Amino acid sequence: MIKTIFYNYELDTIHFVDQTLLPAKKEVVSTMDIEVIADAIRKLRVRGAPAIGIAASFGLFAAIRNYRGDEISFPKFLDEKCSFLSATRPTAVNLFWAINRSKKAISSAFSNAEAGKKVFSAKKTALEEAQKILDEDIEMCRKIGDYGAQFLSDGQSWLTHCNAGALATGGFGTALGLFRSAFESGKKFHVYIDETRPLLQGSRLTAWELLEEGIPSTLICDNMAAGLMAAGKIHGVVVGADRITNLGFVANKIGTYGVAVMAQYHKIPFYVAAPISTFDLKLTHGSEIQIEERNREEVAMIGPTMIAPKEAKVYNPAFDVTPPELVTAIITNFGVITPPYSENIKKIIGSKV
Ligand code: MRU
Repeated sequence: MIKTIFYNYELDTIHFVDQTLLPAKKEVVSTMDIEVIADAIRKLRVRGAPAIGIAASFGLFAAIRNYRGDEISFPKFLDEKCSFLSATRPTAVNLFWAINRSKKAISSAFSNAEAGKKVFSAKKTALEEAQKILDEDIEMCRKIGDYGAQFLSDGQSWLTHCNAGALATGGFGTALGLFRSAFESGKKFHVYIDETRPLLQGSRLTAWELLEEGIPSTLICDNMAAGLMAAGKIHGVVVGADRITNLGFVANKIGTYGVAVMAQYHKIPFYVAAPISTFDLKLTHGSEIQIEERNREEVAMIGPTMIAPKEAKVYNPAFDVTPPELVTAIITNFGVITPPYSENIKKIIGSKV
């Protein structure tokens, strides 16, 4: 399995795959510097909702491991580092979920330890919690894969958008977890991959992952999906999510909403696969989700090449929101949630977030 991010206990270093270099090069970065990890999240060297949460937790551990201050200054230091990591990207709630979870565990270990041992205890807990978040994520993805694989039948072709695979999680993936589980159980199917402009997570990452796994797939440009649907060549769609509200509004990679509209028009089931860490039950309507806007170069350039006039105005939202009425079901680690989401999200995961 692809190990997106992990801690090497012998070397005492955090390692992550630099996703901006794929598919040309699989380079693993080693660091114990919170700045390097925060920068990697900002620049999408580590990306995908669960993966950035995991990275932030390890980043917090790195900061504490390097802390040389006294016990009195520690709580303020912890607050500052949590705020610093929280400011890297705004949309995926998994980032805030993981930071808050780590912070809570660290603060409680710090408070409960006797004087003189508080920072040591905080450091130990920071690592334990980051490792737990990573291990649990892999476990959750496997469950999502197992719950979701039932929807895939032999001979079908499915479409996915962006990368919600091992690279976007601790490993295994959410949307791609369905394909992994179905493939492991011997199902014969095929995956169409939207290239996913502007940053091409589909062509660079999903196509690479599925090839590594030997899962049959075909890459298409985003604007080809409707034609394939009309031709009856797509039997299901599955995507990941960055944040899901209590009514079932789903923020995911820009272009997801368009795919959902097309799927409904063609009467093709549209599934969202996400772990519990992606639900934000404080939010109700999709308009409450903050959508990250990224720089013009991501749209006006491909690699080092300009593909638009220098003066062209550019709009570059990284995500869009799909309304619940377009979502056939949400596949979670606690089972499959079907409409009405206003009731069933609370019923299935309400007490667990
Ligand atoms: O900007 P990115 O590449 O971090 O966006 C990733 C996505 O939109 C994924 O579909 C989402 O995070 C789910 S990953 C399991």
